[in-house]
Amino acid sequence: MTASEKAAQPVSGQKILVTGGAGTIGSTLVDQLVDAGAAEVVVLDNLVRGRRENIAAAQERAGDRLTLVEGDINDLGVVRELTAGKDLVFHLAALRITQCAEQPRTALESLVDGTFSVIEQAAEAGVKKVVASSSASVYGLAEEFPTTERHHPYNNDTFYGAAKAFNEGMLRSFHAMKGLDYVALRYFNVYGPRMDAYGVYTEVLIRWMERIQRGERPLIFGDGLQTMDFVHVHDIARANVLAAQAPVTDDVYNIATAQEISLAGLADALLKAMDSDLTPEFGPARQVNGVTRRLADISAAARDLGWKPTIGMDEGLRGLVAWWKQETGVTA
Ligand SMILES: NC(=O)c1ccc[n+]([C@@H]2O[C@H](COP(=O)([O-])OP(=O)(O)OC[C@H]3O[C@@H](n4cnc5c(N)ncnc54)[C@H](O)[C@@H]3O)[C@@H](O)[C@H]2O)c1
Repeated sequence: MTASEKAAQPVSGQKILVTGGAGTIGSTLVDQLVDAGAAEVVVLDNLVRGRRENIAAAQERAGDRLTLVEGDINDLGVVRELTAGKDLVFHLAALRITQCAEQPRTALESLVDGTFSVIEQAAEAGVKKVVASSSASVYGLAEEFPTTERHHPYNNDTFYGAAKAFNEGMLRSFHAMKGLDYVALRYFNVYGPRMDAYGVYTEVLIRWMERIQRGERPLIFGDGLQTMDFVHVHDIARANVLAAQAPVTDDVYNIATAQEISLAGLADALLKAMDSDLTPEFGPARQVNGVTRRLADISAAARDLGWKPTIGMDEGLRGLVAWWKQETGVTA
């Protein structure tokens, strides 16, 4: 059997650990793992941002096949206990980019030390494959578009992006040192149900939905010309499953739609999804982050993982609005 054939892991019938599995992407992945027939899914989440409600529906379907352990990836004993006997580890636990900027030491402990423990213990336990969440933040403002995985990481100036790049480096080194199979996925701009609708760090889409619902125009700081490459959370979760199943190891993949949308275009698309005839309002520019353009090349994920995005922006935004209304009790 070749190294890449050995790295093809089914999810059906497998024992699986999902760190950060009560979060936006992790809980969506848990839904898919349960439905794909995983024998056991253990979620390790300290619930700093994740919510029990996010996995409530999966829990009903899975019964005792799904367990939530409220704990920290920095707790070596817990990580050791939960990686033991697992076939697969999906590592998603992390802090948001904004919190990393405000609390770099906490970010170091969580994203770097915590991830080290997960990788070290996965290798120790003989886990067959780790699928880890990386980020387009590793590129910073890219120099080439569409951006391929071969693009260098030296334009990143965020602690979060630095930690994610180091996470990828740790995975590579454990593959080289211990033969640990892994795939890292660089998500671009994520959106979809279970986005944080309440926290301090709520995303721009949530703030705009609140304004539009109140009859106020969505507010754009600056000219709105910066672009993003949005990918729906269901498609991201599916990429995780395919990354486990594909005969690939020791590699990273962009996960995006390869569709560039400006902030102003996004506001227009959201207004349409909310059947509103308001128009965006422009405010003074605020330097939130220096990344003014994102556009991914996703051909490697299509070729090696058999993954392609399936949910377009219009459909995805309508689903997001429906979820948000239900979540926040908006009736109109
Ligand atoms: N949302 C995005 O735009 C985006 C983009 C690129 C990459 N990512 C990455 O995808 C992964 C999942 O992101 P998400 O959007 O679902 O975020 P999220 O905040 O919804 O989920 C992260 C989960 O990890 C948990 N967590 C945080 N620190 C922990 C710790 N020390 N121990 C245990 N659990 C902990 C949180 O409670 C939360 O449930 C993360 O690694 C993130 O960096 C997200």
